[in-house]
Amino acid sequence: MNILSPSILSADFWRLGEQVKEVEKAGAQYLHIDVMDGMFVPSISFGLPVLKCIRRETSLFLDVHLMVERPERHVGAFAESGADLINFHIEASADVEKTIQAIRRMGKKAGITIKPGTPPEAAAPFLGMVDMVLVMTVEPGAGGQELIPQCLDKVRRIREMAKEKRLCVDIQVDGGIRVENVHQALEAGANVIVAGSAVFQGDIGANIRDFKRRMEQQAQR
Ligand code: DX5
Ligand code: ZN
Repeated sequence: MNILSPSILSADFWRLGEQVKEVEKAGAQYLHIDVMDGMFVPSISFGLPVLKCIRRETSLFLDVHLMVERPERHVGAFAESGADLINFHIEASADVEKTIQAIRRMGKKAGITIKPGTPPEAAAPFLGMVDMVLVMTVEPGAGGQELIPQCLDKVRRIREMAKEKRLCVDIQVDGGIRVENVHQALEAGANVIVAGSAVFQGDIGANIRDFKRRMEQQAQR
């Protein structure tokens, strides 16, 4: 199934609650929560208190993307604060397998993430252990960037590797995805689509409906 996961990084934080409700009402299934520590990426976004508040008010599936150094230090707290899935960067972790296990032990779905410069083969050893692989389609750290087309070849490769191993894993793309190019990501084999600026700039409800329509069209081809 194709899933849309709007990233609140591009939301208006003054009206965050209202905007999350709009996302829910328009029929997005996930909500993407970008956590940045100012170390793994230069910027700092938000963390546990924001996640907790959102969890209290929504039943959307909360998809947490940790852009932090040594994510193993934090996965427990994010699980307790309401994440449904925790994605972390393999480039940032001292022990990827242990971190996946820690997330699993908390009863949460686990995902690994790779940056544009990380080859798809780096994700291969973990494919059978995770629910999702997030292939960044921009350099992590900011919303509103242009998609790097070569990253879609990595999506294709990971989908192939999963098929070879007969694994049913979600592949998420994140960065520079808009209604006009979402079909390329789906064609490459992604099934969970993150969109920040393309959802939160303008009319949120209309943007989500446009995405969903385009994604359904692609699924029927
Ligand atoms: C970037 C974040 C993304 C970001 C995407 O580091 O991981 O989730 O919000 O924003 P857009 O869709 O605007 O590229
Ligand atoms: Zn993200």
